[in-house]
Amino acid sequence: MTQVISVVQEKGGAGKTTLLTAIASLMVEDGAKVVVIDTDPQRHLEAWAKKDQTSLDWLYEENDEKLIPTVKALKNNEPAYDVIFIDTAGFKSAMAMHAIAAANLILIPSKANEADAKGAKRTFSHVQSVAETMERDIPALVVMMDVDTHTNITQAITDAFDVQSVPRLDAMCAHRTGFKEMTSTGKAPQGSARMSAKSVLADLQGRGLVNFYRSGSWPK
Ligand SMILES: Nc1ncnc2c1ncn2[C@@H]1O[C@H](COP(=O)(O)OP(=O)(O)O)[C@@H](O)[C@H]1O
Ligand SMILES: [Mg+2]
Repeated sequence: MTQVISVVQEKGGAGKTTLLTAIASLMVEDGAKVVVIDTDPQRHLEAWAKKDQTSLDWLYEENDEKLIPTVKALKNNEPAYDVIFIDTAGFKSAMAMHAIAAANLILIPSKANEADAKGAKRTFSHVQSVAETMERDIPALVVMMDVDTHTNITQAITDAFDVQSVPRLDAMCAHRTGFKEMTSTGKAPQGSARMSAKSVLADLQGRGLVNFYRSGSWPK
C-alpha cells in the first residue's frame, strides 16, 4: 500500500526540503516508485525535482482543500507508488494540517538551535492533536539536521527532546556541503552527505517505519 510521508516543521529553514529530497532520492535508487508534492509557495522542492536528475514524479499543489483529494488520486495510480512525500511551508497553516492528516508518518526536521527545537516541539504537539481529532495514530519523529555531532549545543538540544519525550531519530544529517549542492544538481546527495542521509534512512528502516523496506519489494 502507498505510504504517505509528510515533512512538517512550523519554523522555516529547519531542513524540510533538504531532508525530503535526500530521502526521496535515495529511496528511488533503492527501486521505490516515488512522487513528491510541493505545497510550499517558495517551490524549492519543485525546483529540485524539475531538474529531472532522479526518476521520481512531482507536482505542486497550492490549494489546501485539494491536497487530500490529490493524495487519494495518487494512491490509485497504476503502477502504484510506494511512497508519496509531501513538503510544507515553514509556518503553521491549513496546508500543514492537511499534510499531517494525509500522512502515516511525519518527519520533523530541526537544526541544533533553540528556535528550531521550539518549532519542532510545537509541531509535534500539533501532530498529536490532529491524531487525537482523527482518532488514529500518526507516528512523528524529529530528525536533527545540519548538525556538528559531538558539540555541546547538539547534545543540549537532543537531551531537551529526550527529556520532553519528543521522539527523535538517533541518526542525524550532519552539516555537509553535499546537502547544499543538491539544490543546484537536482540529484541525490553525494559524498559524505550521502553517507549521512543513508544513516537517517537506515534508522527509519530499522524502526520499521518505511513500508517499502518491509513489503518484500526491496531490494530490487
Ligand atoms: N545537513 C545539512 N548540511 C548543510 N546544510 C544544510 C543541511 N540541512 C539543511 N541545510 C541548509 O539549510 C538551509 C535550509 O534548509 P531547507 O531544507 O531549505 O529548509 P526548509 O525547507 O525547512 O525551509 C538550506 O540552505 C540548506 O542547504
Ligand atoms: Mg523548504
